[in-house]
Amino acid sequence: MFYLTRREHFNAAHKLYNKNWSDEKNLEVFGGCANPNWHGHNYVLFVTVKGEVNPETGYVVNMKDISTLIRTNILDKVDHKNLNLDVDFLKDIVPSAENFAKAIWDELKPHIKDCELHCVKLQETENIYVEYFG
Ligand code: NI
Repeated sequence: MFYLTRREHFNAAHKLYNKNWSDEKNLEVFGGCANPNWHGHNYVLFVTVKGEVNPETGYVVNMKDISTLIRTNILDKVDHKNLNLDVDFLKDIVPSAENFAKAIWDELKPHIKDCELHCVKLQETENIYVEYFG
């Protein structure tokens, strides 16, 4: 079994905010991440697929196609956007790294052909990343 990873980069703004809570409770739970006027991250996204090599191509899958899928379904919708306000697939979701990684998985999964989606890894800061395996 082979595992191939495509790395992508984007910038986005968000705040961690549960609309069912008061502003005070949001501040208490999320601290600076609940700053009402947003903050930004330089996200790094790693999408890993797995499969066996097709003997005719020597590829598991053409990673250019995976890159196009990520661009069309994710990057075009989130890059330089506000995750709380602008992104249809994050509507009504607290845009934590965990929820965001799962939402990216759910968006990509139906489009992955000829191989399997294995992991969505989302790095939010230099020191924190989350991995979702479905
Ligand atoms: Ni944040």
